[in-house]
Amino acid sequence: MRTVLGIESSCDETAAALVTDGRVILAQHIASQDDAHRPYGGVVPEIAARAHAERLAPLIAATLADAGMTLDDVDAIAATAGPGLIGGVMVGLVTAKALAMASGKPLIAINHLEGHALSPRLADPALAYPYLLLLVSGGHCQILKVEGVGEYRRLATTIDDALGEAFDKTAKVLGLGYPGGPAVERLAAEGDAKKVKLPRPLLGSAEPHFSFAGLKSAVLRAKQAMAVPVQGCMAGSVAPPAYTDADIAAAFQQSAIDCLVDRTRRALGQAGEVTALVVAGGVAANKAVRGALEALAAESGLPFGAPPLALCTDNAAMIAWAGMERLELGQSDPLDIAARPRWPLDPDAEAVRGAGVKA
Ligand code: KG4
Ligand code: ZN
Repeated sequence: MRTVLGIESSCDETAAALVTDGRVILAQHIASQDDAHRPYGGVVPEIAARAHAERLAPLIAATLADAGMTLDDVDAIAATAGPGLIGGVMVGLVTAKALAMASGKPLIAINHLEGHALSPRLADPALAYPYLLLLVSGGHCQILKVEGVGEYRRLATTIDDALGEAFDKTAKVLGLGYPGGPAVERLAAEGDAKKVKLPRPLLGSAEPHFSFAGLKSAVLRAKQAMAVPVQGCMAGSVAPPAYTDADIAAAFQQSAIDCLVDRTRRALGQAGEVTALVVAGGVAANKAVRGALEALAAESGLPFGAPPLALCTDNAAMIAWAGMERLELGQSDPLDIAARPRWPLDPDAEAVRGAGVKA
């Protein structure tokens, strides 16, 4: 049995995990920094980096202790080396380098997006390459054909905001606090999507790209319209619209889902042969999103895959697993490997023109 220690620190989760080649998560710890960032309504990079520096080492020690292991029992050390908030990435990568140096075990630098992209294979041994992946997280919204480890063909990306970002901004507009995605999902369940008309940007366009900035602005306008001032002799003549925050949340989520399904259907038509349709990343934790994509897979005659909820949002098990896939191919990285704030999975993908087309 081989075991990889994975380290994740690219955003606001400090995480460590031990994963075997048999796809067993022997132990894992995730320290969320939600409380530290909540007063600011979003992740503050400097606070995140300091929190990683404080928490990571004891978290790794606890993970090893839970599994009854020491570094001697580990076959490689994998850490996120980008993309992400660079201060945090550096904390995790430097820690991994120190552990690799001290233990003499190989270092494996993982692209965080590769962690998400391969996470469905950790959950499902039967998932074979090539599969079509909708990767929806706080920082990215892409459709990739995953052809193998390190072989990613990007078919689509967002021309403005990521979907997780749009969920978080919607939460902010509705006063739901941070982090926003799960709160919007909960509120949406109580609302009626039909009561608020919101746009579905790029729906039906030829390339399967995404755009969420216009949807986000429409959410803001819908919320502002609820506060129509009613004064003096005009009192009663301008009624505020008859919808609630829950209706806005439901309408936002439905618009987003309609875009995801339409764009992913388009990408399926362009992808060639694939074994399955898979969704991963933080927004894949959303049950309505999962349900809609599962229906699309059924319509397309494809198996559907999505990691369990805990493997959708940032975690170290997916980093350890990506490390295991690379270790099994005999890959490792030198100790001078760089931390990268930007690191596209498909460096050959064309830059998407049309940023600013916020339909
Ligand atoms: O993958 P992730 O943990 O971090 C990044 O790599 O970005 O994704 C975080 C994003 C956040 O924007 C969060 O609001 C969103 O995923 N998210 C959700 C849900 N859970 C997390 N969005 C919608 N519904 C959810 N249940
Ligand atoms: Zn992520």
